[in-house]
Amino acid sequence: HGGRFDDHMGNEIDEQPAVAARVLDAFAGGIADGSLWRSLGLAGFDRIHRVVVLGCGTSLHAGIAIGRVFSDLGHLPVTALVASEASSFVPEPHTLVIAISQSGETADILRALDALSFPDRTLLALTNNPYSSLAREADAVIDCLAGVEIGVAATKTFVAQVMTGVAVALSGLCGSARVDRVDARAALEALTETPLRLDAALRGWSDSIPLLTEEFADASGFLFLGRGSGVVYAAEGALKLKELTYRWAEHQPAGELKHGPLALVENGTPVLAVDVGDRRLDINIAEVLARGGRVVRIAGVGPDPVGDLRPAPPWGPLEAVVPLQLFARSLAIRLDRNVDKPRNLAKSVTVD
Ligand code: F6R
Repeated sequence: HGGRFDDHMGNEIDEQPAVAARVLDAFAGGIADGSLWRSLGLAGFDRIHRVVVLGCGTSLHAGIAIGRVFSDLGHLPVTALVASEASSFVPEPHTLVIAISQSGETADILRALDALSFPDRTLLALTNNPYSSLAREADAVIDCLAGVEIGVAATKTFVAQVMTGVAVALSGLCGSARVDRVDARAALEALTETPLRLDAALRGWSDSIPLLTEEFADASGFLFLGRGSGVVYAAEGALKLKELTYRWAEHQPAGELKHGPLALVENGTPVLAVDVGDRRLDINIAEVLARGGRVVRIAGVGPDPVGDLRPAPPWGPLEAVVPLQLFARSLAIRLDRNVDKPRNLAKSVTVD
């Protein structure tokens, strides 16, 4: 299949810098002048009072990362809604619902749209399939341009969704009177650097992933920690690890450790911590180390964060997903799992 690896997942991880560059080529020109937002026919940004990001699994994680742009820079209340739980949602007028689904055919998403049909709702579909059922239901559709993804585990579609959603959000912000231009400019600059950072992460982590795989091959459970915008990448790392290796993994906002999960840590417990520059994480890591936990810090584009610490943009350190994907894939291969077709799972989930 035209890549360096025998499995689709390896090639799809490898493609991510190119996918991010493709999204920028298509959409970045419409950010500063607000034209990307307007081209979607959405209501003016200042008429939106609330944003709901809706999705399942990895697509929900992409939504949470995107949502932070609306809350941090746009000061809008953002709700992340698990699609299968949308029926308890209390609707409010002037809500922008961003439904994120790679396939656009996920039953939970399509079902959620019924619960979310209220007046003054705008539905934006962010999907890798602009001809999908979700796209047909939406007021506006944006194609995240990932190209066909064959591996069941979402990788390049996650990167494409975050890039595309952030581009749309920034375009809306740039057309708004409420928003600080300087912040929006800095964010656009960070978005533009993403392909390079993804590429640097792929190269920066390639030597250490096999070592980590050997070190943790016998571990029965994994903890993933983060703070702030890093939490959702910890969640994504745990999800990838579970679905590919069939080992237990959970994620926690690092501050929650001391409220319970720290009891899980014993001699040798692997703890992967996504570091976005919040120094309180060091305290949490020290607690883990004091109990014999083995900590891998995911910061910047390689395993040695020195010289590469910069504040993460509002959507978080997207390149952090690379080592998390690489680690889950590598451990899965080490454990003889089929990385393209994990047991019990389907690429397109069309049942409740
Ligand atoms: C995880 C994964 C799933 C999907 C989820 C939603 O690697 O692929 O969690 O993200 O089933 O699927 P879509 O995006 O098609 O709605």
